Amino acid sequence: MRNYDAQAVAGLERRYATPQVIDLRKQFRAILAPRPGERGLDVGCGPGYLACELAADVAPGGRIVAIDRSPDSVASATAQVARLELAGSVEVRVGDAERLDFPDSSFDFVVASQVYCHVPDVAGAIREAVRVLRKGGRLAVLDSDWDLCTWESGDRARMRRMLAARQTRFEHAHLPCDLHRLFREAGLTLTDAQALPLVETRYDPAAFGAEIIESTRKAALAHGVPADDVAAWERDLRARGTDGEWFFCLNRFVFTATK
Ligand SMILES: C[S@@+](CC[C@H](N)C(=O)[O-])C[C@H]1O[C@@H](n2cnc3c(N)ncnc32)[C@H](O)[C@@H]1O
Repeated sequence: MRNYDAQAVAGLERRYATPQVIDLRKQFRAILAPRPGERGLDVGCGPGYLACELAADVAPGGRIVAIDRSPDSVASATAQVARLELAGSVEVRVGDAERLDFPDSSFDFVVASQVYCHVPDVAGAIREAVRVLRKGGRLAVLDSDWDLCTWESGDRARMRRMLAARQTRFEHAHLPCDLHRLFREAGLTLTDAQALPLVETRYDPAAFGAEIIESTRKAALAHGVPADDVAAWERDLRARGTDGEWFFCLNRFVFTATK
């Protein structure tokens, strides 16, 4: 199970503050369509950027509860809430997607963005989200299919080996393919499914494509990809950054449903 420690959370803070990821969150929120006065739960809130933006969407009168299993994510989200002076409308606490510590029917919407891919019992986590939703409430899940991720590279076979190693970091590397069925089995009605691709044609060391080079390198070494291959892969990518030949793409999907 992936552990989001202080170093991993610092990486999230960097790449989630880039203009493209901010814009993707805006699109996610437009799909969810939060309304003033609503009460929402953000499962696996990470650094809390989405929770804080949702708090503005549900104002006046609304409230967001943000939970995360990682104490470092909770600390980061708590600091973000304090920086934005949102303590009155966002509550952050440690919590687990598989065992939500809330009564039945206590939220108008639940969001889980890039979280369920890490949750072993994802069907159980979705059942928990359904339990805490009121009748007619919405669940919005954003996740990636890691088969639909690539960097431009000089050696496609080597890139495929690196990406296969990266997929071992996830409990569910292809979750979007299963969400339709998981929602149905949990008694939800699917209302929308959209792709929100993240495309980079310019190297930015803080952006997603550059940020995940390091974690992909570590995953490949742990997965037995020869160190020479891993080093050549990284050299190729970094050189593309300086030569202006950068291309990175990750396909993320948003599935929304009602109870
Ligand atoms: C990639 S980050 C996503 C952060 C945020 N949702 C976003 O999209 O901006 C994944 C987060 O999910 C959290 N997480 C993973 N498994 C979890 C679980 N079972 N319950 C609660 N949080 C979990 C991690 O600790 C991490 O902070």
